[in-house]
Amino acid sequence: MNFKEELEKKTGKVEEILAAYLPEPEGYQSKVLEAMAYAVSAGGKRLRPLMMAESAALFVEAEEVWRTDGTVVPEPATVRALPMFMAAIEFIHTYSLIHDDLPALDNDDYRRGRKTTHVVYGEDIAVIAGDGLLNYAYETASRAFRKAVTLEDYERTECALNILVQKAGVCGMVGGQCADLLAERPETEVTEEMLLYIHKNKTAALIQAAMMIGAVLAGADEKAVEQIGRCAENIGVAFQIQDDILDVTSSLEVLGKPTGSDEKNHKLTYVTMHGLEESKRQVKALSGEAVGILKAFPHRNTFLETLVEQLIYREK
Ligand code: IPE
Ligand code: IPE
Ligand code: MG
Ligand code: MG
Ligand code: MG
Repeated sequence: MNFKEELEKKTGKVEEILAAYLPEPEGYQSKVLEAMAYAVSAGGKRLRPLMMAESAALFVEAEEVWRTDGTVVPEPATVRALPMFMAAIEFIHTYSLIHDDLPALDNDDYRRGRKTTHVVYGEDIAVIAGDGLLNYAYETASRAFRKAVTLEDYERTECALNILVQKAGVCGMVGGQCADLLAERPETEVTEEMLLYIHKNKTAALIQAAMMIGAVLAGADEKAVEQIGRCAENIGVAFQIQDDILDVTSSLEVLGKPTGSDEKNHKLTYVTMHGLEESKRQVKALSGEAVGILKAFPHRNTFLETLVEQLIYREK
């Protein structure tokens, strides 16, 4: 199987996992559940769940990671908790996008090739659809404890949950979004340091969570998890610089979301600060560093290496 076919197959598996954990709309809360499903099922690259699974595959066999029949208990048993965490991180990511697109934040009308959730369901329902997804993410992740067999499994699951809540919260994605919004205000003088804080937190934090959780559930030791964290930080910062590049160079048709959003919001980005060419060079350099870290692990995962390399030239 070539890389593209393998990517499609694995993305398909992620879609199955998401569908399995998404609640069915029913009762008086139907509208909010519909809005949640609308945002999640619109697609997207599913990068975070994919990277979680592939990071786990650096420490256990890839077949173990992607096996969904539940017939054998792998070693460690927490490998079976990956689907719950994969769904949880995509729910959190999707909630962050619903809120990011709201008129009070970036005010964008398209996402993943469709009208944004607030355009279709109204701002009120979009706000609570985000709230719903965030809570449902933790409800889903907490189900992972059922897969634990030994005390060590429980501890690993607790560690994974802890990474998720911290990286998604005020010391992670939410903190990054806060600085990102303040940086748009005319009274804020945006420094290089602040811009790096924004990229590391609004974007890299969730990619770190994905990869670190994958490693933890696969039984990686503390040092390996720390290295994965550094690797993911590089990937995350490169990913956001590329996102800022595409906001200038791409189109709504290709990207599935509006271009020119950053300029409209007077957002200072890596591109406005350093120019397109230097930004492209940075994406390459940071991704190269990340792949270097991956290659140093005893067990190579060439699919993951290729995935990271492909992100440098991604068009959406
Ligand atoms: C968009 O993330 C928001 C950023 C952090 C740049 P993605 O580019 O991963 O969006 P989807 O999930 O593929 O739609
Ligand atoms: C958002 O960054 C990152 C999030 C935490 C949602 P952007 O505002 O640049 O993301 P897009 O371009 O709207 O996807
Ligand atoms: Mg934003
Ligand atoms: Mg935005
Ligand atoms: Mg953007």
